[in-house]
Amino acid sequence: MSTVFVANRTAAEGGPATARASPAISILGALQRAGVVVRHDCGGKALCGTCRFRVLKGASALSPILPREGERLAAVGEEAAAGAFRLACQAHAFRDIEIELSL
Ligand code: FES
Repeated sequence: MSTVFVANRTAAEGGPATARASPAISILGALQRAGVVVRHDCGGKALCGTCRFRVLKGASALSPILPREGERLAAVGEEAAAGAFRLACQAHAFRDIEIELSL
């Protein structure tokens, strides 16, 4: 198990949050299980980009960017190649990470 730390939640959203993650579930799934609200308009199919997050720490602890995720990040204008942004519905954490949700 690893920890996903969400640094940018407002006080109204409950402040910074943590979620327990494992390689078997997406970051989106881990956050949802922890009660962290994440916009995910397409239901986790890498079609909308609304679940994207910026990686603050631990980019190397995430699963590789597969073509569908890379295409969606490019379509929404994020820096997929640099690994700075990821889709919560596609990325899986192998170790602790710190993120900011984009929406
Ligand atoms: S939920 Fe739509 S891209 Fe992740």
